[in-house]
Amino acid sequence: ASDATEHDVVVIGGGPGGYVAAIKAAQLGLKTACVEKRGALGGTCLNVGCIPSKSLLNNSHIYHQIKHDIKQRGIDVEGVSLNLENMMAAKDKSVKGLTSGIETLFKMNKVDYVKGTGSIANENEVVVKPLDGGADISLKTKNIIIATGSEATPFPGLEVDEKKVVTSTGAIALTEVPKKMVVIGGGIIGLEMGSVWSRLGAEVTVVEFLEAIGGPGMDADVSKTMQRLLGRQGIKFKLATKVLSGDASGEGVKLEIEGVKNGKTESIEADVVLVAIGRRPYTEGLGLENVGIETDERGRIIIDQEYRTKHSNIRVIGDVTFGAMLAHKAEEEGIAAAEFIKKGYGHVNYGAIPSVMYTHPEAAWVGQSEQDVKKSGKEYVVGTFPFIANSRAKTNLDTDGMVKFIADKETDRILGIHIVGPNAGEMIAEGVLAIEYGASSEDIARTSHAHPTLSEAFKEAAMATYDKAIHA
Ligand code: FAD
Ligand code: NAI
Repeated sequence: ASDATEHDVVVIGGGPGGYVAAIKAAQLGLKTACVEKRGALGGTCLNVGCIPSKSLLNNSHIYHQIKHDIKQRGIDVEGVSLNLENMMAAKDKSVKGLTSGIETLFKMNKVDYVKGTGSIANENEVVVKPLDGGADISLKTKNIIIATGSEATPFPGLEVDEKKVVTSTGAIALTEVPKKMVVIGGGIIGLEMGSVWSRLGAEVTVVEFLEAIGGPGMDADVSKTMQRLLGRQGIKFKLATKVLSGDASGEGVKLEIEGVKNGKTESIEADVVLVAIGRRPYTEGLGLENVGIETDERGRIIIDQEYRTKHSNIRVIGDVTFGAMLAHKAEEEGIAAAEFIKKGYGHVNYGAIPSVMYTHPEAAWVGQSEQDVKKSGKEYVVGTFPFIANSRAKTNLDTDGMVKFIADKETDRILGIHIVGPNAGEMIAEGVLAIEYGASSEDIARTSHAHPTLSEAFKEAAMATYDKAIHA
């Protein structure tokens, strides 16, 4: 196996971390290759994650709205029906357009796209097994960036067939609406995909081990509000409940569940079970053992502040290492890693990474939750503003939710911002910028926000931390 060209950087994995790192490295003048094994660029996010799930969330919301909410808007529609095949086709079209768009970006930036499975042979060589089955390719390189991402954590004893027992990958590709769906895990994937299938007509039950939905990091007020609103949409919740075992040998799937507090067991049945209990780093076949690179007890590759492993020329970014498993976090790290290689410095502000859950209404947050601030012992103030008191939300007949600011009691510096509401995912950008700039809540409250917009709720919640809101 040989390849005469030596690279400055070989990136393994073409997801949001890897493809962004590769483009940035090439832009910085480094000779760069990106190895990807799935046959398309964009990783989990574009192929089976962020993008297809948001396509289904958006279109299922429109369907649901036309079915259940359109009359009050003065629009009479008859004969509404679901064409699932076409909804899936619309999703596939978005995915295809975006993944091939990255291929174009690679060409424009002169990144070598190597299709195959990359394995680290030694500190300066990645060996690729080509997708098309040809002879191994050896890529000699000064630097390696590992960006191999993550995979769904399996549920012991319940084999995933992506038809009856599905991960998110199967859940974005079902060919019919299940009558009954049980979701194991009330985190972001469970609530987003649970929403999609519930809107399309499935009876959805979410079984969550903890006493609250939303997964780690969600503010308790947000979690409670979302549970109430999703419950109103028809999703059932079994909280503080553990799935003991599952049996998919019959026509459907049977689960044995147990109350965490009272130990009471019962069995529930479903046509489709979605396993959404978290994701784990993916390093299979990567050859870490060839270079003695270690992972921690959760499988994350161990790195230092500059993303370096014990070999200073091998760096790691994205889901396969520490931190939130989010596409934009992986992207920021991709840029920083390329900059470290070229310039010796790079930076990601981990205190200013937003989280968004794309249900309806959306939930979005940045910074600390109230329970985290409380734990830290810092004195704080809270300002909230409900969308029911916001003029635009009222005209849109979309008034569920609220904005919540948490600020340092002494300095008024913003510690956390939490939103449940229409367009929360777009609105949070202002909060991220405010935290990035070290703003106080008064800085936001004294900034003019256009009327009538939803963002006035954001301003008024900020006002409520140190003064009184005007409209509530
Ligand atoms: P990945 O995107 O996982 O990419 C890694 C790539 O490396 C893969 O394409 C894989 O094929 C390839 N690879 C692995 N090993 C090798 C090898 N040895 N050789 C060659 N290639 C290899 N995040 C958000 O921020 N917003 C969202 O809305 C969102 N929605 C999501 C919805 C779902 C259903 C899921 C599952 C995830 C979602 N995420 C979302 C999370 C997001 O997808 C990940 O955080 C993100 O993709 C991580 O990027 P990455 O580059 O680290 O890894
Ligand atoms: P998660 O970590 O968000 O939630 C998993 C949930 O499952 C937790 O609430 C946990 O308590 C529960 N759980 C674990 N084991 C269980 C068991 N045996 N029985 C019952 N409940 C159990 O993980 P999820 O939802 O799988 O998502 C994985 C990752 O993907 C997340 O870290 C998230 O960052 C990312 N993602 C992001 C999205 C976004 O940004 N909009 C969308 C989808 C995924």
